Amino acid sequence: LSSERFPQLKRGDFARVTDSDLQVFERLVPSRVLTDLEDIEGHNVDWSGTCRGDGQVLLRPKTTEEVSAVLRYCSGRRLAVVPQGGNTGLVGGSVPVFDEVIISLSLMDNIISLDEISGVLVCQAGCVVDKINGALEPHGLMTPHILGSKGSCQIGGNISTNAGGLRMLRYGNLHGNVLGVEAVLANGDVVDCMSTLRKDNTGYDLKQLFIGSEGSLGVVTAASLLCPRVPAAVSVALLGCDSFAQVLQTYNAAKRMLQEILSAVEFMDRASMEVVQENLHLTCPLGTHSYYLLVETSGSNAAHDEEKLNSLLGHVMEKGIVDDGTVATEPSKVQTLWALRENVAVALRADGCVYKYDVTVPMSRFYDLVADTRKRMGTDVTRVVGYRHLGESDIHLNVTCPQNSEDVFGALEPWVYDWVAKYKGSVSAEHGMGILKRDYLYHSNTGSAVLLMKQLKKLMDPKGILNPYKVFPD
Ligand code: FAD
Ligand code: MLT
Ligand code: ZN
Repeated sequence: LSSERFPQLKRGDFARVTDSDLQVFERLVPSRVLTDLEDIEGHNVDWSGTCRGDGQVLLRPKTTEEVSAVLRYCSGRRLAVVPQGGNTGLVGGSVPVFDEVIISLSLMDNIISLDEISGVLVCQAGCVVDKINGALEPHGLMTPHILGSKGSCQIGGNISTNAGGLRMLRYGNLHGNVLGVEAVLANGDVVDCMSTLRKDNTGYDLKQLFIGSEGSLGVVTAASLLCPRVPAAVSVALLGCDSFAQVLQTYNAAKRMLQEILSAVEFMDRASMEVVQENLHLTCPLGTHSYYLLVETSGSNAAHDEEKLNSLLGHVMEKGIVDDGTVATEPSKVQTLWALRENVAVALRADGCVYKYDVTVPMSRFYDLVADTRKRMGTDVTRVVGYRHLGESDIHLNVTCPQNSEDVFGALEPWVYDWVAKYKGSVSAEHGMGILKRDYLYHSNTGSAVLLMKQLKKLMDPKGILNPYKVFPD
């Protein structure tokens, strides 16, 4: 249980679900109240298997009105709840800590409208990213964000975590691409901020409060999303470098030489490449290098883009910045190269226990964190890996070992966070705080900022029933 990993945690002063509560739930969401613990098991444990709760009830509303009725009732009874999307979150935010009622959005997966001209899609919050892309594809459109969990994660979960992903370099984050949000507050009130307008400076931009607040301020029930056109041409280069200085030079050259067609630059170290090869049997077309960069271009003219990418490859090889490289333009080959990067998280999980750190540190220092961690952990762990969305200055530092070890955990925390704070970085670049990072909120925020966050929480959820124990330290 999460309460075992965090022994200092005490259950909040919330009511416990009774038989008469179950009868009311059955009236509010008929035949969609799950109490069989086997059915709930997968919803009590997070994707990485790190956090486990003890939820006894799972509710599956289909409409905003049902979510509203459930929250109004839970608020009246002082029952704590945890909103759950695809349960792919990586900070333990999506599962109960004790016996919170799980509100799953999975049945709220209708696409409501699509305006092909403006590219604005309106849908319920439980739509899975792959499903949205399936609906957009015939119209030549796609989501502005894409991530390795796209087969399971939901737009409501993405919004609640302000998910970054692999296209952020090109399209920016969800604070810019989500045009409207509908959310239900803890007391059941529905807040309708469902604008579909790109420009709308009429008062406070309230929808932003729900983007990245991890289900602590409201349950997102619908959203409108600005979707770009699918590029006519996509090319990818996989490059191998043998020094960190070469990585930075290559990144600079890619920005300079590819400019408007550059759509992603991802970084993997040798240990990341090894883990996808060893645990998932994927094949890397290059030899062994200390670092790898995956550079993607997206544009409207395949010949032009390929020529530019090839000339980048020629330039960096000639200058000796890159030691080896390959370019793919055929969609299945492009996908094969992307799979190496997208599957690092999945491959790491096969090692057993993964300690995940998703932090922002200055560009020039980011690999020092991985190297210092490797030195510190020595042979006590299976591997220490670093991968990242290179354009966004975060680094995914992951440490694996066969099973959870108090010694390993104790050596990593708070050491990693102190390292990040020393360089004025952020302790969570894209995954949020959840329960795993909540104790470090002050490492990346001033006291005045946390105070205002707490005041907003109090205002919007006075009884604290929405996703308690998450985001804020005690
Ligand atoms: P969940 O995991 O179910 O929930 C996440 C949080 O949001 C929880 O706090 C939950 O309470 C809350 N929540 C969920 N739905 C709602 C709702 N409708 N209303 C209110 N609160 C809600 N993240 C990135 O940022 N970038 C990546 O590149 C990336 N890649 C990943 C790759 C893999 C293989 C995996 C497993 C995860 C990855 N993630 C990444 C993390 C994760 O997928 C994202 O955080 C995603 O946005 C979570 O969506 P979800 O629907 O699974 O939400
Ligand atoms: C990624 O970039 O692959 C995701 O954020 C998942 C992870 O950090 O493991
Ligand atoms: Zn990431």
